[in-house]
Amino acid sequence: MTETVKRPYVVGNWKMHGLLSSLPSILDIDRAAACYAGVDVALALPFTLINPAAITVEHATIGGQNCHAAHEGAFTGDISGRMLMDCGARFVLLGHSERRLGCGEDSATVRAKMRATLDDGLAAILCVGESAEQRDAGLAVTSVQEQLLASLPEDLTPADTITIAYEPIWAIGSGSIPQPAEIAAMHGAIRQTLRNRLGQQAETIRLLYGGSVHDGNAEALLSIADVDGLLVGNASLDPRRFRAVVRAAQQASLQPS
Ligand code: PGA
Repeated sequence: MTETVKRPYVVGNWKMHGLLSSLPSILDIDRAAACYAGVDVALALPFTLINPAAITVEHATIGGQNCHAAHEGAFTGDISGRMLMDCGARFVLLGHSERRLGCGEDSATVRAKMRATLDDGLAAILCVGESAEQRDAGLAVTSVQEQLLASLPEDLTPADTITIAYEPIWAIGSGSIPQPAEIAAMHGAIRQTLRNRLGQQAETIRLLYGGSVHDGNAEALLSIADVDGLLVGNASLDPRRFRAVVRAAQQASLQPS
């Protein structure tokens, strides 16, 4: 199977952080995207910042962090992929563990959201990851493969733009990350699972690592086989640190493979 060279993808996940007064930070990040043009830079923002950011930035891509599986309807307090698209988002994070665990979203719900948002023309970043208990029991790879298969729509087509973010739940916000060999094994298993489901299309899908990524470990993480980019939470709130992560991705893309 031929391996396709992919542009590195660095995505900041601002979670429930940021006010309109944060727009200068978003502009700083947009300047980093302009400076390191070999990297695709994106920010998953709270709903309230999506449109102000989308009409301001020129280089970074703006997205959401969740949406409903329906295009519209009687769902008080929810938002659809179509609405995200309408206000300038071009992608959405789906299946983040903070939603799976904190909001009771199972993989069937995530799969329905994936289908709806892809139909709306948004790209989807599907998050998967194992718990500490699953890893300790030696079930990390099988549980992530199962979650991935259960969260992916059955009828994906080459027109659907998806990215997979591997985020071990125990690594998020903890300062702990898996060993490089564990990340390589997991990304290899995710790639193989995608090949089995999608054939050649699997080679074009970027696999991100997420969980306690920062400016000090980005370079090492990006040198791991099959890590095509990074999903960055806390460190993306500081434009200086996030810029350094983007710079590391640019440098990684220039290394001979
Ligand atoms: P973190 O979060 O970088 O703060 O660990 C990552 C995420 O939850 O996407």
